[in-house]
Amino acid sequence: MTGSSTRALRGRLLSFRDDPAVVGAESYDFIEDGLVLMVEGRIAEVGAAEEVMPRLDAATPIDHYPDALILPGFIDTHIHYPQTQVIASYGAQLLDWLERYALVEEQRFAEPEHCAQVAAFFLDELARNGTTTAMVYCTVHPQSVEAFFTEAHRRNARMLAGKVLMDRNAPPGLSDTAEQGYADSKALIERWHGQGRQLYAVTPRFAVTSTEAQLEAAGTLLKEFPDCYLQTHLSENHREIETVRALFTWAESYTGVYERFGLLGPRSVFGHCIHLGESERRLLSDSRSVAAFCPTSNLFIGSGLFDLARAKDPAAPLRVGLATDVGGGTSYSMLSTLAEAYKVLQLQHQNLPALQGFYRITLGNARALGLEDKIGRLAKGGEADIVVLDAKATPAMAHRHARVETLEEELFLLMTLGDDRAVRATYIAGDPAHSRAAG
Ligand code: GUN
Ligand code: ZN
Repeated sequence: MTGSSTRALRGRLLSFRDDPAVVGAESYDFIEDGLVLMVEGRIAEVGAAEEVMPRLDAATPIDHYPDALILPGFIDTHIHYPQTQVIASYGAQLLDWLERYALVEEQRFAEPEHCAQVAAFFLDELARNGTTTAMVYCTVHPQSVEAFFTEAHRRNARMLAGKVLMDRNAPPGLSDTAEQGYADSKALIERWHGQGRQLYAVTPRFAVTSTEAQLEAAGTLLKEFPDCYLQTHLSENHREIETVRALFTWAESYTGVYERFGLLGPRSVFGHCIHLGESERRLLSDSRSVAAFCPTSNLFIGSGLFDLARAKDPAAPLRVGLATDVGGGTSYSMLSTLAEAYKVLQLQHQNLPALQGFYRITLGNARALGLEDKIGRLAKGGEADIVVLDAKATPAMAHRHARVETLEEELFLLMTLGDDRAVRATYIAGDPAHSRAAG
């Protein structure tokens, strides 16, 4: 960790220790007037302001947010940085949306200068939304990965990312081969995995766009670099599932394809997982794989409703991360993502209490990525990625806030009406990365 400054934040601290759905009220720490001391990128102290303040060096700058909530930075478990200029593209479901919009836009990333510009925009936008870690798809071009990690590393932001692998059913300008995809990924892993805060995810786009040889090469990379991640898409849309069935006639299921090539596991994150069969749930559960629930995308592309209650079935429990999936998703904000998750669950007579929502976008997603020893909490020794939230950020929020009586009501207001405007400030590795005037 190389954050350069010493700085303290004072305000109302909220941090989860465990899942409120499992342990209830014991799940979090809330300090009404608290202080977090950040030294060289890490959290050096957390506690009541009256206890910690007297121990501070008189020169330590203190950013005081009297009404605001100070939480660990948000974590997004599935997002595409090359899709920032196709977000909000009209009128198509998955395969048409890819062909008409996403795969056209991604061809621009052959140009390194374009990659660098978009990576900078994207990381600014994450910070504006309070997101300090994301698991990110680049494009098939190695230069798109190089540009992304270069910019993330420069900002000292903890990111996971990888080069998309596609060796069939893709436009010529976006196709690699099994051999080239393997070689490029390997070189990027050797250069970037564990460099500062950067982590590599082997990234076959989905089974539709990879041959068996390429999926096998992805499995080989995971064997050679067992602490790397894997990210791909799974069971998002019915036409997609039919296509996979036609391409892999020997497979029992879509998940079975990934299983055959050794792609399931505790560091594997599968986007969507909406239309899974029973045996697929068992494969994912037994391997401790992670499903990324992307509510704004699933509604916008018309893919379907993620069944969170089913994912909690004790017979085959799934690890679940919450994610935006921009640009299929329609917001960079994890607050807006919570609002849409709530609605997706309402449509299925399920619920998402506010405490569970905020757990999910902080410690819950850190656990989904196996990074809970580093991020996701306000805890001594942890990495100092922090978001400051204002529940009165807009006139409508301030007006509603006048009726708020409890912390849970305040959090529910933030997740239902909040977005980037509710983010007062973001700190990455102890340094200011974004700030906004009070509403
Ligand atoms: N499946 C394969 N590629 C993509 C993508 O870019 N976005 C979404 N939502 N689904 C995909
Ligand atoms: Zn996606």
